[in-house]
Amino acid sequence: MRVQDSENIRGLLDKLASGYELSEQEWRFLIDGSYDRELLYHKADEVRRQHYGTDVYIRGLIEISSYCRNDCLYCGIRRSNARAGRYRLSEEEILSCCERGYVLGFRTFVLQGGEDAFFTTKRVAGMVGKIKERYPDCAVTLSLGEREREDYEAWYQAGADRYLLRHETASKEHYGKIHPPTLSYEHRIQCLWDLKQIGYQTGCGFMVGSPYQSTEALIADMRFLREFQPQMVGIGPFIPHHDTPFRDYAQGSLTRTLTMAALTRLLLPKTLLPATTALGTIHPEGRELGLKAGANVVMPNLSPAGVRGQYSLYDNKLCTKEESAEGLEDLKRRVAVAGYQVVVDRGDSRLETAAADRSKKTGNAGVY
Ligand code: 5AD
Repeated sequence: MRVQDSENIRGLLDKLASGYELSEQEWRFLIDGSYDRELLYHKADEVRRQHYGTDVYIRGLIEISSYCRNDCLYCGIRRSNARAGRYRLSEEEILSCCERGYVLGFRTFVLQGGEDAFFTTKRVAGMVGKIKERYPDCAVTLSLGEREREDYEAWYQAGADRYLLRHETASKEHYGKIHPPTLSYEHRIQCLWDLKQIGYQTGCGFMVGSPYQSTEALIADMRFLREFQPQMVGIGPFIPHHDTPFRDYAQGSLTRTLTMAALTRLLLPKTLLPATTALGTIHPEGRELGLKAGANVVMPNLSPAGVRGQYSLYDNKLCTKEESAEGLEDLKRRVAVAGYQVVVDRGDSRLETAAADRSKKTGNAGVY
């Protein structure tokens, strides 16, 4: 790619931030081109400050199950990994994670897990109900994979506010290369549209540098984000796991991940963008660099210490003590040194959702 002068780059970044659609060639340049990435990160930071100031929202991540019925080729807890340690948390354990988190100042709890049939519609709904009853000032986010629309509706009725389901890649061809044939791109995207229509603040996202990912696939990701308008976007580097078919592939690059995060901030100025754990795993200051490139969320782990090693999606997953009072103080200091501040807040997206009325049964609005 030709080296361009900074005036041209600024013009292109402004064009993106003003909502104009970019051509294939323009996207390709922003993703692959050799230009000063500081211009991009700086612009992303400026846009983030316009909408969210210097606030950083914290989400308490609770990894409720490492059982998964799926066999995604990149993931350490894939079904056919017989060496993966398996556990699931009881309702009591989950509630006690929330209790610890609340005292520390968390106002969002993210219940994430593999696709585990043990967590039935009713079980999850009951748990969500209890958390919302005990902590009415908190948001509950679910991240439990692809389920029936009825499940999503029941959990929304029970009080769940948000749902995270990374689309992983918006190229159907690429999707097929990193997933088993039992999974389909169409179904995943349908789940995302269902979630959004039900009224969830919905998050999608993708890995950067996953095997077979082309620049076109990343452009497809950006085009999908533009169409879908998610409230949240999770972007992290691919990191190989030693017990998966992708064990010998290289991890995603730091610069490329930061580039995609910053471009996402410009494309979706109001989105909630985490500086992901995977980013913190590939570089000691990965998360700080993410914040400086437009990210505004961090997700410390509130899972019980005894099970953490078993929720092993990729190798060397960053394991901090941020769930403890001292650890959180440390995180706050690091965020402050980077120029931002951790706030005690639900940290809702500034982007509206499809529906907010839980008094009516979803799908039947207008009948009552
Ligand atoms: N490297 C990076 N991210 C991964 N995930 C799963 N496996 C890996 C890996 N090897 C991400 C997926 C999933 C999220 C929970 O973790 O994007 O949606």
